[in-house]
Amino acid sequence: MKPARIAPSLLAADFARLGEDVQRIEPDVDMLHLDVMDGHFVPNISFGMPVIASLRAATTVYFDCHLMTTNPDVYLEDLKEAGADLVTVHIEVVPNPTNIARRAREIGLDFGLVISPSTPFAGVEPFVELTDLLLVMSVHPGFGGQSFMPEVLPRIEAARNYIDSHALSVDIEVDGGITAQTAPLARQAGAEVFVAGTAIFRDPDPRAAVRRLRDAIEAVE
Ligand code: DX5
Ligand code: ZN
Repeated sequence: MKPARIAPSLLAADFARLGEDVQRIEPDVDMLHLDVMDGHFVPNISFGMPVIASLRAATTVYFDCHLMTTNPDVYLEDLKEAGADLVTVHIEVVPNPTNIARRAREIGLDFGLVISPSTPFAGVEPFVELTDLLLVMSVHPGFGGQSFMPEVLPRIEAARNYIDSHALSVDIEVDGGITAQTAPLARQAGAEVFVAGTAIFRDPDPRAAVRRLRDAIEAVE
């Protein structure tokens, strides 16, 4: 397994001062997780390209863009233009992601697939080799602040086994309800990239919260 990486989700940050919130934690994090929601695939609306482009001017950190939209293919160029580094799309809206994976790479984006808690690992397994990253949701997508669903741990293990047994270098990311208590469980199951919104940005000291999260994960090793 690769070293653990921390990807704070801006969904829990203060939207009136996103640039400052990012710059405060930037030295301690590995990437930023940007949740783009369309109010259609999920019952919530977050932010889109203009916000990502403004943030791009404020930081050089790697942008992991989690697209929760019904037509992800429509947004790839705009996302790249705004400054995204990686795009992840839900297998539930792109049952055969072969073309979108190719297209993302053509325009210079890293590519990942996401499975919601309602989707078994088998639903994404045939396409794992197309990806740089597999995101296993540990809450139902749409909102921050939900509780981690321990029932997704076996599918992180299934992903870990598949990736290792096929000698792939696909990263496993986990997203939803990640705290210093739940992240070690996901690490034990095989996760490498840890998304956390509430646990970081709702903490009075977000930098310390990142460090506590990393320490808790590294204590597993
Ligand atoms: C939920 C988003 C998550 C969310 C995580 O749909 O994909 O990235 O921001 O928030 P917390 O860490 O609060 O569960
Ligand atoms: Zn997310």
